[in-house]
Amino acid sequence: QQQEQQPLYRQLSLAADFYTHQLRQHDQRQRAVDYLKGRGLSGKAAKFFAIGYAPPGWDNLIGSLGTTPADVKQLVTSGMLIEKDDGRHYDRFRDRIMFPIRDIRGRIIAFGGRVLGDDKPKYLNSPETPVFQKNKELYGLYEARKIRQKLNRIMIVEGYMDVVALAEYGIHYAVATLGTATSEHHLRRLFKLVPELIFCFDGDQAGRTAAARAMETVLPILEDGLQARFLFLPDGEDPDTLVRKEGKEAFEKRLNQSRHLPEFLFDHLKQQVDFDSLDGKARLDQLAAPLISKIPRGTLRDLMIAELEKQLGVHSRAMDKINAADTSAT
Ligand code: UTP
Ligand code: MN
Ligand code: MN
Ligand code: MN
Ligand code: MN
Repeated sequence: QQQEQQPLYRQLSLAADFYTHQLRQHDQRQRAVDYLKGRGLSGKAAKFFAIGYAPPGWDNLIGSLGTTPADVKQLVTSGMLIEKDDGRHYDRFRDRIMFPIRDIRGRIIAFGGRVLGDDKPKYLNSPETPVFQKNKELYGLYEARKIRQKLNRIMIVEGYMDVVALAEYGIHYAVATLGTATSEHHLRRLFKLVPELIFCFDGDQAGRTAAARAMETVLPILEDGLQARFLFLPDGEDPDTLVRKEGKEAFEKRLNQSRHLPEFLFDHLKQQVDFDSLDGKARLDQLAAPLISKIPRGTLRDLMIAELEKQLGVHSRAMDKINAADTSAT
C-alpha cells in the first residue's frame, strides 16, 4: 500500500514546488507577497513552511502537472483537481495562499489555501484522500520536530496562521488541527511525544466551546504523569494576533500561567450550577462524576475525586453509582 502511494506523494510535492515557485515569479505574485507581508510574515518563515501561491485561473495545475491522462487522474485522487460531471477538470485551489500539510515524516499530503481577501470560504482544505485523513494529521508537527526533535510540550491551536506566526516569534512547538475538532487520536499521538499539552484556542465563543470539548476528549488519556493545560486568550485575540502584539516572552508567560485541567474542569462545571446552594452542589456532583470517571484509574483520578468531595463537603454519591455500575459490569 505504501509503495502504491509513492507517485501520489511525489505529485503533491511537485504541486508544492509549483505553488512556491508562483509566489516568486507569477505576474500577480505581488498581491500574495503584499498579503503575507501585511500579516507580518518574513521570507524565512514562509520558506520554512513552504508557503506558496495558487494563482487565479482554472487550469494552472493541469497545465503544469497534468500532462498525461494518468497524471490528471492522480491529481483528482490527490484532491488537487476537481472533476466535473461532464468529465472536465479544474484546479481546486485558485488565487489562494497555500499552506502545504506534511505528515510526521515530512511528506506533503495535503494543502490548506487561504483567500487573499474576504471571500468565502476563508480556508479551503484538501479533501480526504488515500494519504490524508483530517482527523489524524496536525499542521506544524513535522516542522516543530524538525526544529527540535525532543520537545517538552506542545501547544494546540486552531489555525495555520497561528502556527506560522508563533514560529515566526520563536515559539516552535505549536500544531493545529485541520478545521476539525481535536480528536482522541491526535491527543494520543501527541502524548507519545511530550508529557504536556497546552490547548490555546481563539478568544471567542467557538474557542471556548472547543476548549471544553478538548477537555472531555483528553480525560480518558490522562494517565498519571501527563498534563493538559488550557490557555484562554483575551476576547477577539487568537495566538497569531496576540504573539504579534505581545511578543514571545509575554506569550510564554501566559503559557506558563495557563490553567491546569483539574482547575478548568471544576471552574467550567461550577459556572453551570448555582454553587452557593445545596441543590446546586448536588448538581455539581452529577456533572463532575461522569467526567472524572473517564480518567484512567490512578492518582490524578483519586485527587479529582477528593477535590470534588472537598467542594461538596460530603462524600460523592454520583461517583459511588458509577463505581457500582463499573463493578457489576465486570
Ligand atoms: P479561524 O476562523 O480562527 O481562522 O479558523 P484563522 O486561522 O484565525 O484565520 P486568519 O487568521 O484569518 O487567516 C481556524 C481554522 O479553522 C479552519 C482553518 O484550519 C483555520 O485555520 N477553517 C476556518 C477552515 O477550514 N475553513 C474556513 O473557512 C475557516
Ligand atoms: Mn476562530
Ligand atoms: Mn487568525
Ligand atoms: Mn483564529
Ligand atoms: Mn468518598
